[in-house]
Amino acid sequence: MREAEANYREVLAANPRHTGALGYLGLLAHQAGHSDAAIDLLRKAIASDRRNPEPHYNLARILSDRGRDDEAIVHNRKVLEIDPNFPGAHNNLAALLLLHGRPAEALAAAVQGLLRDDAAGLKTTFVMALRQLDLAAIKRDPNLVQLLVRALREPWSRPRDLSAAAGAILLRSQAMARCVEHQSREGVMRLADMFGATDLDALGSDGLFDALLTSAPVTTMAIERVLTAIRRAALNEIVSGEFENSGTWLPLITSIGQQGFINEYIFDVSESEKAQLENLRADVADAATRNETIAPLKLAILASYLPLHSLSGAETLAAQPWPGELAALLKQQITDPHGENQIRTSIERLTAIEDDVSEKVRAQYEENPYPRWSRIPAETQALPVDAYIGMRFPGAPYKPLGHRAPDILVAGCGTGQHAIQRAQQFQSANVLAIDLSLASLSYAIRQTKELGLTNLRYAQGDILALADDRTFDIIDSSGVLHHLKEPLTGWRRLANLLRPGGLMHIGLYSAAARQDINAARSYLAQQGRDYSVPEVRRLRAEVAGRAPGDQLHNLTNFSDFFSMSECRDLLFHVQEHQFSIPQIADFLRESGFTFLGFETPARNSYLRRFPDDRAATNLANWAIFEAENPSTFATMYQFWIQSA
Ligand SMILES: C[S@@+](CC[C@H](N)C(=O)[O-])C[C@H]1O[C@@H](n2cnc3c(N)ncnc32)[C@H](O)[C@@H]1O
Repeated sequence: MREAEANYREVLAANPRHTGALGYLGLLAHQAGHSDAAIDLLRKAIASDRRNPEPHYNLARILSDRGRDDEAIVHNRKVLEIDPNFPGAHNNLAALLLLHGRPAEALAAAVQGLLRDDAAGLKTTFVMALRQLDLAAIKRDPNLVQLLVRALREPWSRPRDLSAAAGAILLRSQAMARCVEHQSREGVMRLADMFGATDLDALGSDGLFDALLTSAPVTTMAIERVLTAIRRAALNEIVSGEFENSGTWLPLITSIGQQGFINEYIFDVSESEKAQLENLRADVADAATRNETIAPLKLAILASYLPLHSLSGAETLAAQPWPGELAALLKQQITDPHGENQIRTSIERLTAIEDDVSEKVRAQYEENPYPRWSRIPAETQALPVDAYIGMRFPGAPYKPLGHRAPDILVAGCGTGQHAIQRAQQFQSANVLAIDLSLASLSYAIRQTKELGLTNLRYAQGDILALADDRTFDIIDSSGVLHHLKEPLTGWRRLANLLRPGGLMHIGLYSAAARQDINAARSYLAQQGRDYSVPEVRRLRAEVAGRAPGDQLHNLTNFSDFFSMSECRDLLFHVQEHQFSIPQIADFLRESGFTFLGFETPARNSYLRRFPDDRAATNLANWAIFEAENPSTFATMYQFWIQSA
């Protein structure tokens, strides 16, 4: 390097405007810690050759390291003006724009980048920008749509994170806009008379529509109404034997069937539909028993009202030859649930369940395993724990674990999303995941087997009854402790199982973010309304009828409102506590934990509000931030802590 430096100095002596020499020496100066000199050299390199993107790119990186992000953004843009394919520039630009609270520009940069390069960083920015953008500001751009379909199908994040954005974009298609308008037509009509065959065909062949319906609960009320109306008209038509055009609409109805299973049949069902549904169910069950051919469309419509595994003779149905369009539906509704039933009997029992609240909670999650997910992002690169925490929480007072294969406990793993993510995320991880509910564990085990993961073991157990004989480097308990009779007792039990210097990831409900939920719960309690499937449907119809701004109507802002188990969790849980940041801070102080950081898209806004807290770990400041922005932790407080 010395030799190269000497050579470049010589070159520069002969030609003070030599771009390569200026650029190289600029980078060397930066590495030696002389950033001002580096910036000066790179500016000269730029001035000497205005068509060269490289000095702009390097200057942008140095400026960003120095906290001069606005200037870094300008130079990244310059790079791309000169060479739109310059590797890494879109990625850096998009990430900087997102960091600075400019999600619309970040999304545009990520889209341009992803059209050229499949970088994981660009996918992350794409998803985060879409989640942060005001839905009204999202345009139906064909490149964006094409990437969003991939993001939902591959997927790039949990598909439900993108459900609201996908819904907003779908509403901008002319066919969907007309369907929204026509769904309220009064009277029982044929499907094509209600919506128009062209619009239905357009929906049926819309890749984004299909990707959304088959990946995550639809969280856009207007689209839910359209789907409910299509389903109602299709049922009416097929029961009265009038269905025409059945081949064309099979993919559309099949996707609605998959959506029904994903949202656990939360859509409203009218009295007239109930009678027709009974006829159809009897008709299909009879035909199945007699091994007679059934019209694929009949099966698809039935699947949009009830899970096919609940039909007598479901397995003979699955064994019949069906058109390819039905394959995913049959797997979802017959093969997978059958596999889960078989798994259930062989699940290891780690502890007894004796606590009365644990028993009630178990019963709820046996009926409604939470959440029913279909696809999970494939982690591209498993990281050592230290690298993972270092990247998420730069500047946090973290004591590295060092190189070790981490033993991880996921306490209250539900249907396995978290446990699977942890098993994929950390290098050489060895995960034990426990839950009260055998139905949830069966779902998790089936999905884990399909993904081919072998570093993950599941067992039934109660957090409160866990013995001290096994300890862990990481304990993850998200969305669980607030369902215990005494959450802090459970938290202390888990803390006892953590090795010195070990890490915890905790998710707890925020009282500030759940004010609308609390209002809805007391409204329900006053009227003595309790959980049942018809009650949830009745309540949802009532909520949808309220004007925007009404506290009850605000429930539609929660994505949990759009599937049965999540809606039950949201509004009718048998046991729920809520927390505040000062309460969390007290617990951490009392138990000797260090706070490492919240996992929240609001981190950047917080850093702009409290620029002096560069590690974003001051809980007193976070309490102020939450008071100013009460919906910050609408999903939950999700945070990492470290034991002494
Ligand atoms: C809302 S779900 C969250 C599931 C999962 N952590 C997630 O985020 O997807 C709560 C889960 O905690 C489990 N749970 C509640 N109390 C528990 C306890 N005392 N011991 C073990 N699991 C418990 C429930 O059975 C349920 O599956």
